[in-house]
Formats: sequence, structure tokens, C-alpha cells
Amino acid sequence: MKDKEIHILYKELQYSDLNEIDIKLVSKALESAKNAYAPYSHFRVGASVLLEDGIIVAGNNQENAAYPSGLCAERVALFYANANYPNTTVNSIVVVVIDQDDNIVPQTISPCGSCRQVIAETEMRYKKNIRILLASKNHILEFKSILDLLPLSFNQKDLLKH
Ligand code: THU
Repeated sequence: MKDKEIHILYKELQYSDLNEIDIKLVSKALESAKNAYAPYSHFRVGASVLLEDGIIVAGNNQENAAYPSGLCAERVALFYANANYPNTTVNSIVVVVIDQDDNIVPQTISPCGSCRQVIAETEMRYKKNIRILLASKNHILEFKSILDLLPLSFNQKDLLKH
């Protein structure tokens, strides 16, 4: 038997550490969160995606009376980016949650497993790390790759093994 370890690398940033583009990404995610359709959970999430050519797209969670038919903000934003700019790679994704007064909440979100899987697919698709910023009211967690949030992820290489 062998014990093995996985180290997850991430940074805690302050807003003063962010450059102009990152600040814009947070603000786009915040604006998008305001348009979330979340009548069931009242949990409003916004995500913005920065493409390699500087284009920013955003999305929010879209719920449904048939609960599983809804979709998280991260996937709405990423699928929109991949659908409309299929030849443009993704640099970063920023995710925020807002409260009833439309302010970013004090806690960072922990993206769900399905969203991590979709971010991992996008990294594989473009063969490029995606920087993930989980922004809260006063600080931001920065991950250089989805593999730090989804180690040992299932991907296309697993399919080819069998
Ligand atoms: N949600 C997101 O949009 N992103 C996440 O990473 C986690 C959860 C949404 C889905 C649902 O509309 C609501 O938050 C409560 O789970």
C-alpha cells in the first residue's frame, strides 16, 4: 500500500491585487447575477468568461420548476462562449453570488461538480489552463487551473483507455 497526496494550489487575493480587466470581469459577473432566474432557491449567481481576444461573455443561473432542468451560471456563461466563439480559447472565469440587495456576498462560492467538469472539458478542448476567480465581497480565491478544483478529473483520455 502507498499513501499518495494531492496538493491544491490557490491564492487569496484582495481587490487591490486585481488588474483592470479582472475588476471588469467581477463587475460583469455581478451585473449578470442581477438577471439570474432563481425563483426557487433565491440564490443568484453570476459568471463572466474572458476569451483570449478580450471578449467577455456572462451568464447567470436559470432555474426551472422541474428542478434538474435548470442550469448554473458557470455553465450558462461557458456554453454561451463555446457556442458563439468556438475557435476562441477561454482565459478566465469569474464567479460571484449576490444577496437580496444586489451586493456580492462575503463568502466565495464553491462551484458544483458539474460546472467543474464542464470547465475541465473546456481546458481539454483548448489545451489551455483556465484561470478561475471565485470572488466574494472582500477577497478573491484564484485557481490557475480547474485541476486544482477537480483533481483526478474524468476526461477524454479516460475514454480512450478502453
Ligand atoms: N448554482 C450556480 O449557479 N453555480 C454553482 O456553482 C452552484 C449553484 C445555482 C444552481 C441553482 O440555481 C442555485 O445556484 C442553487 O443551487
